[in-house]
Amino acid sequence: MTAKVIDGKAFAANVRAQVADHVARLKADHGITPGLAVVLVGEDPASKVYVKNKHASTIEVGMSSFEHRLPAETGEAELLALIDKLNADPAVHGILVQLPLPGHLNSELVINRIDPAKDVDGFHISNVGLLGTGQKSMVPCTPLGCLMMLRDHHGKLAGLNAVVVGRSNIVGKPMAQLLLGDSCTVTIAHSRTKDLAEVCKRADILVAAVGRPEMITGDMVRPGATVIDVGINRIERDGKAKLVGDVHYESAAAVAGAITPVPGGVGPMTIACLLANTLTACCRANGLAEPKGLTA
Ligand code: GUN
Repeated sequence: MTAKVIDGKAFAANVRAQVADHVARLKADHGITPGLAVVLVGEDPASKVYVKNKHASTIEVGMSSFEHRLPAETGEAELLALIDKLNADPAVHGILVQLPLPGHLNSELVINRIDPAKDVDGFHISNVGLLGTGQKSMVPCTPLGCLMMLRDHHGKLAGLNAVVVGRSNIVGKPMAQLLLGDSCTVTIAHSRTKDLAEVCKRADILVAAVGRPEMITGDMVRPGATVIDVGINRIERDGKAKLVGDVHYESAAAVAGAITPVPGGVGPMTIACLLANTLTACCRANGLAEPKGLTA
């Protein structure tokens, strides 16, 4: 068997087009333009690329983009004051503080200063608690993107065995909560899991989010399973720089029913879901119906 390739790039383009339609309608019918503020502290090269891409995508769907670039030595009080200002600004519906922050800044303190209703990353402790108790929240973008692709591929997820490999606050834990919310039987596996291969092999849905290049191999995949690869690892092979996932693609694709490639799988969905979350936050802030199919 060769797996169906889940085209995240095309899926993300479709999500962005849906967001753009909603944005146009919000403008025409209500005179409202959703706005996203992105805060970057310091000069981390990868973060600069992410922030630039977020800005371009935000403009492309017709939203307002507010970029705040602060020097690496910015103090905590100054950063918190900026967040307070963005919290109070009615033109800003979503706020994202790019991580990682420079070492002298306390990320938890900073993230928890964001108004939870504007926390489009879904990292605020209130949103984590709301998601964990099945209440309406802002959901982290990467797991939301994975959920959208899984729902699209499977229709209903109820009763399926889902194994999430990785227990990060950004992907693994919220992914598990979302799958539980859709009535999967969920296992969270990680680096200390005993007999990981056997655990993975039970999965109808296998989500790899461990950050270890090609760690999940075909012999760990149940025939016909859906494999979602969240990993983005830069490695060198045969003297060339290469981007690989947490899944060994060739061996897994030979066994799986469906699989996301790297690149072009989960990656493009993250920014698309950030835009979807900003739209959702804007609708909620204005007492309007939430966009269908773009939320958890
Ligand atoms: N840095 C890497 N990924 C992310 C993300 O999803 N959100 C934020 N705020 N920073 C990141």
